[in-house]
Amino acid sequence: MTDTASMTGKTVLITGGTGGIGRAAAVGLAAMGARVGITGRDRARAEASAAGIVRESGNTAVDVFVGDLSSQAEVRRLADEVLAAYPRLDVLLNNVGGFWAHRHVTADGLEHTFALNHLAPFLLTSLLLDRLQASAPARVVTVSSGAQSMGKIDFDDLMGERGYSGSGAYNQSKLANVMFTYELARRLEGTGVTATALHPGLTNTAFSAEDPSMRLLVAVLRPFMGSPKRGADTAVYLASSTEAAGLSGRYFAKRQERKSNESSYDTAITARLWDVSAELVGLR
Ligand SMILES: NC(=O)c1ccc[n+]([C@@H]2O[C@H](COP(=O)([O-])OP(=O)(O)OC[C@H]3O[C@@H](n4cnc5c(N)ncnc54)[C@H](OP(=O)(O)O)[C@@H]3O)[C@@H](O)[C@H]2O)c1
Repeated sequence: MTDTASMTGKTVLITGGTGGIGRAAAVGLAAMGARVGITGRDRARAEASAAGIVRESGNTAVDVFVGDLSSQAEVRRLADEVLAAYPRLDVLLNNVGGFWAHRHVTADGLEHTFALNHLAPFLLTSLLLDRLQASAPARVVTVSSGAQSMGKIDFDDLMGERGYSGSGAYNQSKLANVMFTYELARRLEGTGVTATALHPGLTNTAFSAEDPSMRLLVAVLRPFMGSPKRGADTAVYLASSTEAAGLSGRYFAKRQERKSNESSYDTAITARLWDVSAELVGLR
């Protein structure tokens, strides 16, 4: 990972840093000198991951925050813990996301894919925004996917109650990541806090492992998948590089700006999604 602006003195929070792309990003950013907080659902697993990140990065400043981000109460508790632990926050890397072939409902009664992939980063970012602004220049980086290009925000059935498909829900949530980023960037103009989104590339991780119906497809695709380190490269670049400083409201893959789904540029849609999301997480 090149273009290594030193991250010494900077604090980074990465959701889902216990494995896959998030863990690789944690190693990369800790190796540059950042204090890195990772999140995961299970304390023992998260602490074991943190110990590995310390070993691989040579940086002991790695902290663990525990919570199931599909639950809004847990997102709120985790945000409070982060605010208590970190007097400054320079980077928030919204990375957690998953795929479910069948419809599940969260503790809040919301469809799981939309709740975890979109509403959780929406709520967490909102709760940490004052701290990010007070730490400006700061960056919010959100891991989307190339799947956003096939997404459609179905305002009449956001929760897939009338019809659910795993790919439809995933694509919608990843498009929502991009729309959230663009709308956030607009709202943060002039604050010194930037917002970018990215596609990590097909990456060999535990992605979709909770869904047995995906096993065959994943096995077929595995030879074409990149390493977690490669998958984390654009996220680390957007989180740390001097080149990416100041870039906001943009979508990247392989460190290059890319065009996203046509609908993501429609400010009426992104503003509507923002309002609906705020209502769903109780921020209105
Ligand atoms: N892998 C790919 O090919 C690919 C391609 C395009 C986009 N992406 C995107 O990249 C991001 C990272 O994916 P990945 O492949 O690294 O996935 P992964 O290997 O499955 O890692 C997911 C991480 O999220 C955490 N997590 C999962 N469910 C959670 C929940 N309910 N609450 C809190 N944390 C939770 C896991 O932690 P614990 O299990 O320890 O709780 C783990 O650290 C996702 O947003 C995904 O959509 C991945």
